[in-house]
Amino acid sequence: MHAPEPKTLPQVLISQDRVARRVEALAAEINHDYAKSDHLLAVGVLKGSVFFMVDLLKHLTVPVAVDFFQTSSYGDSTEPGEVRIRKDIDLSVRGADVLLIEDIVDTGYTLRTILDLLRFRKARSVRLCALLDKASRRAVEVPIHYKGFEIEDIFVVGYGLDFDEHHRNLPYIGRLD
Ligand code: IMP
Ligand code: MG
Repeated sequence: MHAPEPKTLPQVLISQDRVARRVEALAAEINHDYAKSDHLLAVGVLKGSVFFMVDLLKHLTVPVAVDFFQTSSYGDSTEPGEVRIRKDIDLSVRGADVLLIEDIVDTGYTLRTILDLLRFRKARSVRLCALLDKASRRAVEVPIHYKGFEIEDIFVVGYGLDFDEHHRNLPYIGRLD
């Protein structure tokens, strides 16, 4: 259970229009870069990446398979940055060109864990596509190959991102103060 939806809407940080234009531009880059790939696999991290991923993939003209991880991180566990895989992908990544899709890279622990796992499982290539990058918060290095927007260290919601499961379906990216 969680608290009822707040009545006031978050302030717009990145408008629906700007997001849509950026997503199209990223898709164009991806179409170009993977034009020769015969085994592209888009892997999203539930749940935040779903809105971005669906919009992005609808612009792809190269054949692509789709799968998902779900993770959770335990901020106050003994190991800082410990990430648990709560749902693994169903498909094999061996020999695949994996395009990992995430809503936001914050400390980087989540993506670092997943990138290492995909390499261990012998993906042919792995690249990360992240809508948002909170670069100033990074604790471990994560290369972002396709980046939507770099943002300051503020808490954002909408377009998949939530605060305690609120605001995921906002069509824009808003800031929570
Ligand atoms: P990382 O492992 O610290 O990079 O955590 C990334 C995850 O933290 C994201 O996939 C989001 O679920 C969550 N997160 C980080 N910053 C925000 C934010 O500003 N709004 C909503 N979720 C966030
Ligand atoms: Mg997430």
